[in-house]
Amino acid sequence: MKRSALAITMCLTFATFLPAAWGQSVTGKWVGQWRVLDNGEKDRMFLDLHQDKNQFTGTMKTIGHVWQVHGTLTAANFDVFFNPHDAKPRMTGVVSAGKLHLSREGTDFDAVPSTSPADDYPGYDRMPLPAQHDVPANGLAKTPPMGWNSWNLFQSHIDDKTVRQAADVMVSSGMRDAGYVYVNIDDAWQGVRDSNGNLAANSKFPDMKALADYIHSKGLKFGIYSTPGPRTCAEYPGSYGHEEQDAKTFAAWGIDYLKYDWCGARMIYSNTEERPLYQLMGAALQRADHPIVYSLCQYGADKVETWGAQVGGNLWRTTGDIRDEWASMISNIEKQVPTAPYAGPGHWNDPDMLEIGNGGMTDNEYRTHMTLWAITAAPLLAGNDLSKMTPSIKSILLNPDVIKVDQDSLGKQAIPVKNGSVETWVKPLADGGVAVAVVNLGADEAKATVKDTDLGMPGKVKSARDLWAHSDVTFHDGAYAVNIPSHGAIMLRVAASN
Ligand code: GLA
Repeated sequence: MKRSALAITMCLTFATFLPAAWGQSVTGKWVGQWRVLDNGEKDRMFLDLHQDKNQFTGTMKTIGHVWQVHGTLTAANFDVFFNPHDAKPRMTGVVSAGKLHLSREGTDFDAVPSTSPADDYPGYDRMPLPAQHDVPANGLAKTPPMGWNSWNLFQSHIDDKTVRQAADVMVSSGMRDAGYVYVNIDDAWQGVRDSNGNLAANSKFPDMKALADYIHSKGLKFGIYSTPGPRTCAEYPGSYGHEEQDAKTFAAWGIDYLKYDWCGARMIYSNTEERPLYQLMGAALQRADHPIVYSLCQYGADKVETWGAQVGGNLWRTTGDIRDEWASMISNIEKQVPTAPYAGPGHWNDPDMLEIGNGGMTDNEYRTHMTLWAITAAPLLAGNDLSKMTPSIKSILLNPDVIKVDQDSLGKQAIPVKNGSVETWVKPLADGGVAVAVVNLGADEAKATVKDTDLGMPGKVKSARDLWAHSDVTFHDGAYAVNIPSHGAIMLRVAASN
């Protein structure tokens, strides 16, 4: 081949190769089907993207969420980030032959160019918000609620059989008799609404009333989950516009506890509009014909601790979701500190459910987790597989003396005094004594000294017991000194002499 002919051939080859590698853009409106929910609803995804060089921004809509996404491209491959602070992409893709080949949470699917204006979810009307009024206290949850919740371990993979098994093990493991009475289903139980607007469970829960009866027959109580929004976090139907009706349905099933999660309400309302929507369900629950503990879950926004009780709430989350990691657990409890004055019988701050036994922390760290939740009068909702508890995990969750501190009728939430990496938390108790937790947040063993003058008790120390070692300890010259391992905690119950 002559040199000129070779050059032309190379140019042509390169030119035909170009569009595949560099010429395709993600700019445009795309439509795909991500997944099918457990209630049979198709979760379609609508993307509206705009690419500028190797970056893009845009909107992603699914059945229950609207995200302002951004992303980067490397040739035909791209990563999608849902939040400005996402460290890792939450969806990946390849653009080729006029399609987006997407992968999200283990599901691979294609999005094609949208051809119809109907490729969108209809918006939701803003419901008029009710005038503010106080919902009277329901008289429930005089001590922090205790039980088990499906989310931390099972997430959306929860069904009737698993919940019945959890109820069985609550009894056989001694959890129920230790005080853990609520068996709570979290997200993903929902079916669809019928023509009268009544919400049914999906096929994983064939008969909610029968499940409630089963749970009640074991001497346990039954909790469920919904949202003030039209869709839950896992995108199932929410109670938006059906508050009264859902409260009645829950009462008719025999539900004893409702966790009400903001999540999908973000599609319509701003964070400062939460109070009236929580009030709406709080009032509806009180009109329903069954006592229902009301658990607010909006991650502590808008200083919920200052109004949670006025909307009828018995507990409210003060933080984002806990993860089964030391740093997450500590961060959640530290965020709880400013809310302490608002805890008391019937209304509790909730730093999220327990991760004890889920495998991401050491037993030493789990002991600290339990210590911190008990000293702060936090709800104790186990989130582990109760049928596979090691003796050590059992001894943590079932320690009666530690549970007694959490459940103390005075209902005080301790706050910490910091000394380097050691924190001392003191919780006044109904009998005039105190519980003391000393936690070592540092990487090395630390020596800690508990002084009777720091305990805020009127008299001197009469007796003290180490609630994890199950032995009495002695204060010498008004002080008790102890070595605490890295990430470890001690917990004392101290009685005062008059
Ligand atoms: C939110 C809540 C979690 C859990 C999930 C369920 O993230 O904070 O506790 O209920 O929703 O989708």
